[in-house]
Amino acid sequence: MTLRLAQPHDHDALYNVALLTGDGGADGTHLFDDPRLLGEVFVGPYIHLEPEFAYSVELDGPAGYVLGCLDTGSLEDRCESSWWPPLRVRYPLENVRRDSDQELVRFIHFPERRPEALVRDFPSHLHIDLAPRAQGHGYGPRFLEFLLDRLTQAGSRGVHLGVASGNLRAQYVYRSLGFQDWENAGGELIMTKELS
Ligand SMILES: CC(C)(COP(=O)(O)OP(=O)(O)OC[C@H]1O[C@@H](n2cnc3c(N)ncnc32)[C@H](O)[C@@H]1OP(=O)(O)O)[C@@H](O)C(=O)NCCC(=O)NCCS
Repeated sequence: MTLRLAQPHDHDALYNVALLTGDGGADGTHLFDDPRLLGEVFVGPYIHLEPEFAYSVELDGPAGYVLGCLDTGSLEDRCESSWWPPLRVRYPLENVRRDSDQELVRFIHFPERRPEALVRDFPSHLHIDLAPRAQGHGYGPRFLEFLLDRLTQAGSRGVHLGVASGNLRAQYVYRSLGFQDWENAGGELIMTKELS
């Protein structure tokens, strides 16, 4: 398994990984009417707006991603000016069907910014999702170490991430890499790590 920088043409494959891991790390296909919504929120912004930290995992084609963001506030600003507006047209609030789709469409229209107290000390953040065929071989922690090194080299002083409160495997991996609990609320645990 290897990493390479993600390209715009990886879109569909990586959006599909988001779906295959979209239920707190397990297959979320059954939860969403629209199979692209998770990717639009959690993958697209990184490939398009933070491409120097967006990696595709290769295993006979794209089998996952490791996505970093150097400065969370800056990415939130850039999403507001260029990523969300066309999606707000494509996904109007009033047409939404199921609750899980609705939650993501609401996020597209009213994206929550990360708290100032978090991004002050931990300005960077990351996501990792490996498709089931790429899981369980110990590559996740190695890919995360690679991304943490990239963020450190780029000058970041700290990184955070959000993980489903029930996703114990991912939490184990993050703790093994030195992440600590920051806040556990609304089904999401935020974890942080200082970089130096
Ligand atoms: C979470 C993820 C990144 C881990 O990467 P991975 O390469 O699959 O990791 P592995 O399963 O090989 O295991 C790594 C470690 O976790 C441990 N582990 C596995 N399942 C576990 C569980 N349910 N609870 C606790 N620890 C677990 C393994 O024993 C291993 O520990 P070790 O290194 O001390 O032996 C990857 O499985 C994944 O992408 N999962 C689906 C999507 C996801 O959950 N993403 C995170 C969203 S925040």
